[in-house]
Amino acid sequence: MNYYDIVPKNDDVLVYITQADKNFAALGYTEQGIRHAKYVSDRTEKILKELKFSEKDIDIAKTASFLHDIGCAIAYKDHEQSGAQISYKILSKLNIPKEDIFKIIPLISMHEDPQTITISELVAAISIADKTDVSRDRVKKKDFMLFDIHDHVHYAVTENILNIQLGTKQLVLELTIDTEICSVLEYFEIFMSRVDFCKKSCAKLGLSFNFYINKIKYL
Ligand SMILES: [Fe+2]
Repeated sequence: MNYYDIVPKNDDVLVYITQADKNFAALGYTEQGIRHAKYVSDRTEKILKELKFSEKDIDIAKTASFLHDIGCAIAYKDHEQSGAQISYKILSKLNIPKEDIFKIIPLISMHEDPQTITISELVAAISIADKTDVSRDRVKKKDFMLFDIHDHVHYAVTENILNIQLGTKQLVLELTIDTEICSVLEYFEIFMSRVDFCKKSCAKLGLSFNFYINKIKYL
């Protein structure tokens, strides 16, 4: 059985990730809960499958993807480190062999630092999946008047497509943004650091990062 068949169903995992999302909501931030965990797992799988990684590597990376923000149940600050420790306890309780736990844990602890995302192809894939989760679904506020710039940017994104072109070694991200809600400039104001993460992670995977907004190529 794959670890990804067990871990996302574990009660502790569900409680902690749900709490992380509640903490974010209380701070007025965008969604950081089960939806995000699943999205990052699915997109990580897509990237690694297309690059023909082994089933075992994909399972390790998907499991780490699901857990990557679990530390936000404690606090956003240093969540990658607290998340690694929480995950260690949960994975140990599930009797996952130590050698596999210590394949999963570093992917969690390294996912949030541009210097460490290049430690492995697996964490690079997680980083791309995490940093490209820009979506209207992540906006929790109902009142447009209460939106901050992050809400505007997420809410404006109506389509988010990621593809890998193996022949030309390109990863292509195509966003559709409603510019009545958010200008392209505002997008970059907030998400320039995410672009940097994607560029570095793609390089680790032997790909170039190609970025389109409303069919215009920015990178
Ligand atoms: Fe995340």
